[in-house]
Amino acid sequence: MSQDPRNEGKRLSALKALEFVEDGSIVGVGTGSTVAFFIEGLADMKSRIKGAVSSSEQSTRLLEKAGIEVFDLNHAGTLPLYVDGADECDPHGRLIKGGGGALTREKIIAAASRRFVCIVDPSKEVDVLGRFPLPIEVIPMARSYVAREIVARGGQPVWRDGFTTDNGNVILDVHNWSITDPVALERELNQLAGVVCVGLFAARAADVVIVGANVRQG
Ligand code: 5RP
Repeated sequence: MSQDPRNEGKRLSALKALEFVEDGSIVGVGTGSTVAFFIEGLADMKSRIKGAVSSSEQSTRLLEKAGIEVFDLNHAGTLPLYVDGADECDPHGRLIKGGGGALTREKIIAAASRRFVCIVDPSKEVDVLGRFPLPIEVIPMARSYVAREIVARGGQPVWRDGFTTDNGNVILDVHNWSITDPVALERELNQLAGVVCVGLFAARAADVVIVGANVRQG
C-alpha cells in the first residue's frame, strides 16, 4: 500500500478527520484504504471513544484488531460522526461511493449520523461525477432487468463478476455516465425494482470534505 503515491493524501485526510471525533462517542466508520488510515489513528485514541459502528466486514476486522469495540447500529442510536472515503467527490460534497462494494451499509450509517466527514486524496476531486463507474447494488435475480433499464437511460452497466456484497447481493458498475444532476439520478434509480442501493451520495452529501489536509464544507 505504501507504494501508491496517493497514500500520503489519504493519510493526511484521515488524520485530519480525527479532530472531528467527540470524546466518549461511538464513531461511524466507512470502508476502504483511506479509512484504514483513519482506523489506525482511531486506535491511538481508543481510550477516548466508546467504540465504532462499522460499514463492512473488512472494517470490522480492522477495528477489532485495533481493540476498538464494534457496536450494532440498532443499539447505537444517532451517531455524532461518520467518516468515510469516496471514489469521486464534486465541489458540493456529492459523491460516488461503492468501489469497495460497501455502499449500502455506508449509506445507512451516513443517514444515521449528524455529520458526515468525507476523506479523500486530491485525485478523487471532479467537477462532474461519472468518470468513476457508478456502483449499484442489486438483488441477484434483478441483475439483467436493472441492467436493461440502465442501458435505456444511456449507461453501460458491467456486472462485477465474482463479487458478492456483505448483504449477499451483486454490483453493477455503470460506465460512461456524465452525472449532471446526481440528486435526480439517485432518486430515479432508487425507484427501480431490485435496486438495493445506488452509489450516489447526493441527497445526503458529505457535510465536510477533507482533501489531503484541507478541510472544506460539502
Ligand atoms: C467502499 C467505498 C470507499 O470509500 C471508496 O471506494 C474509496 O476507497 P479508497 O479509500 O480505498 O480509495 O466507497 O465502498
